[in-house]
Amino acid sequence: MDDIYEPKEDSFLLKEEIKNYSHGLVLDLGTGSGIQALEASKYANKVYALDINSIALGKLKKIIRKNNIKNIIILKSDLFHSLRKIKFDLIIFNPPYLPSDKKYPDRALDGGKRGYELIHAFFEDACNFLKPTGLILLVFSSLTNKNKVDEVLLNHLFDFKLIGTKKLFFEELFLYKISKSPLLQELEELEIKDIAYFSRGKRGLIYTGALKNKKIAIKVKRKEAVVDKISNDAYWLKILNKKNIGPKIIYGKENFLVYDFVEGDFIVDFIEKSGKTAIKAVLKDVLEQCFIMDKLNINKLEMHHPIKHIIVTESKKPVLIDFERAKKTTEPKNVTQFCQFLISKHIEQTLILKKILIDENLMIELCRNYKDNPGRQGFEKILELIK
Ligand SMILES: C[S@@+](CC[C@H](N)C(=O)[O-])C[C@H]1O[C@@H](n2cnc3c(N)ncnc32)[C@H](O)[C@@H]1O
Repeated sequence: MDDIYEPKEDSFLLKEEIKNYSHGLVLDLGTGSGIQALEASKYANKVYALDINSIALGKLKKIIRKNNIKNIIILKSDLFHSLRKIKFDLIIFNPPYLPSDKKYPDRALDGGKRGYELIHAFFEDACNFLKPTGLILLVFSSLTNKNKVDEVLLNHLFDFKLIGTKKLFFEELFLYKISKSPLLQELEELEIKDIAYFSRGKRGLIYTGALKNKKIAIKVKRKEAVVDKISNDAYWLKILNKKNIGPKIIYGKENFLVYDFVEGDFIVDFIEKSGKTAIKAVLKDVLEQCFIMDKLNINKLEMHHPIKHIIVTESKKPVLIDFERAKKTTEPKNVTQFCQFLISKHIEQTLILKKILIDENLMIELCRNYKDNPGRQGFEKILELIK
């Protein structure tokens, strides 16, 4: 099961490029026979050769001793786990990249169920071990699912270029030169750590990270998004944060936005799992926030369908998120839109189950009055309906 991987076409495709990129501090992960580490040691100051396979490492140790090679350090490691606080100029990785074959398990070949899982795990951590301008050389095959590898790289904010290919009988090999994207470098300069992909919205991608031990969210414009909504989000958040609305913004840059990560439940989930008193307090709090936005002549939009736009925290504070579509208006609609939601099919039955009975006709009438005369008095009457 733990045979040493004899260099093959993938090893040779990779080895060809080692002389062009090796300098300073190099890491050869999954070193196996040591073919890449030995080549890199001719050009670099120091090479770390890591593998999970102790037999391979034992053999490599003998080779470097015999050849009196002084600049290779050998370490047993599962991916980066044995390394602490070290950043490389170059990381070389010829990983196991084939879909696992249960009948013939082989750690040198099995990249996980679909072939790319180990590559994925590698990129979860790679940025922490690469200098800002460092490079990664990665080999994989058409059997790995190239689209998935590309997605993993983009999701982890790496740029990449295909610098070599080799057609074999059953597959094609790919060699990628990978670097930290300018955005990733910028985030790291702001001392944001542990950057990880979180989710994909219509207009942006969300990452999480840590800033001074606090969990933060990073919203990044999707490459293919035509209109830049991120700066709109930042613009309104800065204004609304002063009124305690929205997650606290930390950085609002042209191409990304960093704010406190809001941990909690989406509003409908919160309602489903909470009691009447807590639900009433939260709904009234949301309405108050809507009223403030109305007063400021800002339309958040989407308040009639805020399923994923209101998160209720553990301390039962509803936080409105996503101000991408917000705009200045002469006809503020936040309160009336949220009332529309409260009597909509999305939530009506759940509220009834929780014994919160809203008189629909009266709600419509009060909303009409409020629309004509959007003052505190009319708003209070709407609040009274949440009982
Ligand atoms: C395809 S071989 C490449 C060997 C050599 N670098 C080359 O280019 O020929 C993959 C190597 O990765 C090692 N490996 C597999 N899983 C690993 C892990 N989780 N951490 C470190 N090394 C691993 C295997 O033991 C094997 O030596």
